[in-house]
This record gives sequence, structure tokens and C-alpha cells, in this order.
Amino acid sequence: MSGKPALLVTRKLPQAVLQRAARDYEARLNPEDRLYAPDEIVERSQGCDAILCCSSETFTAELVARLPASVRAVATFSVGTEHIDLEAARKRGLVVANTPEVLTDCTADVTMLVLLGAARRAYEGQRMLRENKWTGWTPTQLLGVHVSGKRLGILGLGRIGRAVAKRARGFGMQIHYHNRSRLAPDLEQGALYHAEAEDMLAACDFLSINCPATPRTHHFINEARIARLPERAVVVNTARGSIVEDEALIAALRSGRLAAAGLDVFEGEPNIHPGYRTLPNVFILPHMGSATLETRDAMGFKCLDNLDALFAGREPPDRVA
Ligand code: DGY
Repeated sequence: MSGKPALLVTRKLPQAVLQRAARDYEARLNPEDRLYAPDEIVERSQGCDAILCCSSETFTAELVARLPASVRAVATFSVGTEHIDLEAARKRGLVVANTPEVLTDCTADVTMLVLLGAARRAYEGQRMLRENKWTGWTPTQLLGVHVSGKRLGILGLGRIGRAVAKRARGFGMQIHYHNRSRLAPDLEQGALYHAEAEDMLAACDFLSINCPATPRTHHFINEARIARLPERAVVVNTARGSIVEDEALIAALRSGRLAAAGLDVFEGEPNIHPGYRTLPNVFILPHMGSATLETRDAMGFKCLDNLDALFAGREPPDRVA
């Protein structure tokens, strides 16, 4: 017995995070990075004081109820918390903490990457070169959607949404947004508020989804809301796949009603809707929003900071349950 709290780390995290976890905890690691099923989480957390998980593990009410009584906390290596039944956690007295702030810039960068990649047909250009089908420059080759001066509607002007707005202003875009309530002027920075999402949709050439996945936002971008967007609009999603109804988005991309989409997240990851694989006008990435070493280190350290606080008798700074 080391006297250190026992911690189940469900996935393979960056080296520096694992080193710190192993220094300060009796850490049970997953060097093969296997995805643990709920039964295995219950089994492997026997005798543990806490679990450090990722958004790849779903903590349903049932799993929360089955966790060993010794488990006091779950620190998730994500800002999103939709994979954890927070209500069930509160009822059981399980502390839950997430990783806000540290992935804001990184995710906003990827939002601009997929926005530009979609608008400027980067996938088609890449494919032409890689398949050796480029026969040379032509005046009408791969004409995309102009970005500068266009209206960008941001669904969810939270931390990440505001970081996207900051970047988009650098591209000369006009910012519109919809939140449930209006932000203070210092946070709006001149962005135009729409109390109704539908009104914003009609006013945006580009739509960036940056809100959390909640029951309210589930399949929020559906056929009716896509129909509100101007012809040839571009849709970007770096938040959560479940906010978009895939069939509706794919139909609008296929018909040309929407010019393009840039997606980093998908419903049912990693089993993405097969329609996305064949559409030339989607620029897709495999959930890479926070994927830089600096950010992933910071996310892991934040998880450990939260657990350290709890085991030192302090309130975890990023407690969500
Ligand atoms: C997050 O932090 O929510 C990222 O999407 C990784 O899950």
C-alpha cells in the first residue's frame, strides 16, 4: 500500500500526464489503449478512489450506480460532459470534473481549418493531386465559396464560439450568434445577437456549431433548420455530432442546397454515417479539435489538478457534479 489514492486511467494519455499520474497516484493504466466496456470499468475500478476517463466511455446512470463505493470522483479528459449522467452522479455523491478553457484555442483553430477546408474545396484538391489527376491550373478549377466579408453564424457563443469569432474576424467575417441569453457587450465584441436560432440561420452564409450536446440541442440542425440557411451556405461542426441530423445534412449537400460542410465530430463516432465518406463537398476530420500535445497535456494536468484538489480536501476547480 503506497498511501496514495488509487486511480483508474481508462485510456492511454500523453506521457507527461501518465508520469504525473503514476507519481501522485497508485495509477492503473491502459497502455494498450483498449476501449473498456462498462463491466470492465466496474471490475478495474474495484478499490479505486477515482477514475480518469475520456468522452469515449459512457457513464450511464446504470454504470454510475454500479461503480464501487470506493470511487469518489470521475475526472473526464474532455470539456464535453454529455457522456456522463451528471444527475445520476449527483444523486450518488460522485464528484465529476471536466477540462474547460485549455482546449478553447486548439478547437477554434480546427474550426477555422474545417471552415476553410470546406469552403475552398481542400479535399477535392488533395484528392486530385494524390490520385495524380491534376492536369494543370485552369481559370475555373475547384472554384470555392469566398470567405472574406461573409456572415458567420455561431450557434453557442461560449468560450470556444468566442475564440472562433475572434479568428473569423481576422478573415473579415461578420459575426452573428444565437445563445439562450444575450452576452454582455465585452463578450459580444460587436457580434449580432439573434434571440431565435431560426432568425440567425437565415442570416448566415456560414454556420459554426459550437454549443454543447444536450437534450435541447439533439438533432437541432435538422431539415427544417437547414432550409432556413441561405442557398449554398456552409455548415461547420466541431462541437458534437449528435447536434446534426446526418440524413438531413447529407441530403442538402448532395442536392447542392448547401455548398459544403466541414465536420470534426459525428454522431455514433467512430461509425460515421457512410454518406459522408463519398460526398466530395464535405471536409472531414476524425475528432481532432483538441489534438495537439500541448493541449492534451493541459487537459490531463487539469484532470489531475481537479483530483489533487479533491484528495487534499479542497473543491475541485472544474467540478460539474
Ligand atoms: C472534448 O474535450 O469535449 C473533446 O471533444 C474531446 O472529447
